[in-house]
Formats: sequence, structure tokens, C-alpha cells
Amino acid sequence: QPPRILVVGTSNTDLVTRIPRMPRMGETLIGHRFHMGCGGKGANQAVMAARLGAQVTMVTKLGRDTFGQMTIDNYRKHGVDTRYVFWDDEASSGVATIFVDDEGHNLIAIVPGASYRLTPAEVRQAEPAIAGSDVVVGGFEVPVEVTAEALRLARKHGRTTILNPAPALPMPDELFELSDVLSPNEGEAETLSGVAIHDPESARDAACRLLERGARAVVITMGERGALLCEAGGAAQFFPAFQVKAVDTTGAGDAFIGALAARIGMGEPLARAVVFANAAAALSVTRMGTQVSFPALQEVEDLLPQAPQARRL
Ligand code: RIB
Ligand code: NA
Repeated sequence: QPPRILVVGTSNTDLVTRIPRMPRMGETLIGHRFHMGCGGKGANQAVMAARLGAQVTMVTKLGRDTFGQMTIDNYRKHGVDTRYVFWDDEASSGVATIFVDDEGHNLIAIVPGASYRLTPAEVRQAEPAIAGSDVVVGGFEVPVEVTAEALRLARKHGRTTILNPAPALPMPDELFELSDVLSPNEGEAETLSGVAIHDPESARDAACRLLERGARAVVITMGERGALLCEAGGAAQFFPAFQVKAVDTTGAGDAFIGALAARIGMGEPLARAVVFANAAAALSVTRMGTQVSFPALQEVEDLLPQAPQARRL
């Protein structure tokens, strides 16, 4: 029986321009390549979980434009349940303009458009699907009240919640308390905790602060370094990243969250789910693009034996 995952979040169309280096203010640069693909943090997480075998429901909002149509077709192609995909008559579908340089660094500007017009009332329409999910995933590319409502309903029905607080913003205590797993990246963890992170030890200190505020477990993703897991009352563990050659890191964090959700939904212990998510994220950075770079289940399983040794802190 596949894990059932529900994601509340954005759908964007990613317009990716490859350039040798980032332009300076006022400068015009010639790029090498252009690629358009489906993105948005919520959508990426949903598609990653679906590729790994989960049964996924997406709660999102689209504009009635070409990008909205592309997006819904993409969900269908991946077998994602679109019953709770809402449509906005005025706003455009979400768009992300992305520059990626030869080093693999990126720079992103998002216009959430319709995504940001998703409402708590629409989330309530999805309550039956929330109640029937193993894991509910939320983030902040949609309004905070929308994610808060989804997590409240998940908690009401005893479902496991994952909150990916991205992009970072000041977060009310209630949201910490509603997070079974709070999973920020380094920068977001710094913003939320006030602790500067430069190594696994400082990440552990930041995670402790987030646990004190009410999260039940914290997973901080640290890019090419790896991920740190800290559970209430338990010791922290650091899981170094799989060693790969990075080509494009866009969406790697979303691959991580989607994979984490799928494995938690299967009942896998958190530590093993983190290693699995590290592997999925690592594979995604070896290829260009966002969703198109996400690995299949078999590839992740094949990489797992190369997992670097975890370290207790
Ligand atoms: O996390 C990567 C995603 O962030 C991209 O797909 C882009 O759409 C932005 O939302
Ligand atoms: Na990629």
C-alpha cells in the first residue's frame, strides 16, 4: 500500500536561463541555454513523492493561462490527484525566473500569482483528503494562514505534518507546535532560531531552539554538507551529503522534502528517511532543471549503499 501524501503549496512555471556568470546591475549578458519546466516548491515536493511511489494529492491554485494548463497536465502525467487544484480568474499562474551560472549557483525571482490566492476555506474543502493522508506537507510560498489551516486539520485527524518554512518568515508559535517535522534549510533555520549556522554543531544548536518552540523533530538541510536531524529528547545526528558533481541545485531542497515525506509516510524511521532524502536530493543536483532532474526510486535505492557514515552530536 503506497504512502498517501498531501501537499499544500505553489505551482510555478520555471523559466531557467543558463548564463556563464551572474549579470551585474544594468548589464546585458548572453546566455547559453533556456529551459522551461514545471516548478514551485509545493509542486516539486509533490512530484518527487509521486516519482518515489507515493499516492499524492496537491492543493494549489492556478491561473487560467497557458502555464496553468501546462501545470495541470504535468500533475496528471505524474498521477497526482488534482481534485483540489483551484483556479483563479484574475491572477496569472505562478512564475519563477531563474538564472543558473556555470558554477551551478542560482538566483530566483518568483511571482506566486494565483498560488498566493489560495484560501483557508479552499484548504477546508480538502479536509477529507487531509484526513485520508499519512503525511501533510506545507510551506510558505502560499499564505501562512493557508498552511496553518492545513496543518491544523492534519493534527485534528492525527496525521503526520512536515513544515518546510520556505521562504523564511517570522513564524507564530502555533506553527512550530503543529510541526511533527520542521525542515528548514540553513538560512531559514538561522532566521527562525537566531543562531548563526556554520557547521553541524551550530546547526544542532539552532535545531534545539526550534524544538524548544514546539516542533517535535527538526531536520535542517545544509546543501552540499548534508542534513542534521534532532528529535525532542533525543540526540542530534548529522548525515553528510552523498558526494556528487553539482550541475544545478535548483529544487534540490524540494526533492529532499518530497522524498522525506514519502519515506515517513511508509513508516520509515526518521533517520533512515533523512538518508534516503539526502540521496534523492544529491541525484537531483547532478542534472539540469527542477522536476525533470528528480530521480526515480531505483536510482535512489542504487545510491543508498554509498551513504557516508552518520555522526552523533
Ligand atoms: O525550490 C525551487 C523552486 O523555487 C523553483 O521550482 C521555483 O519555482 C521556486 O518556487
Ligand atoms: Na537539478
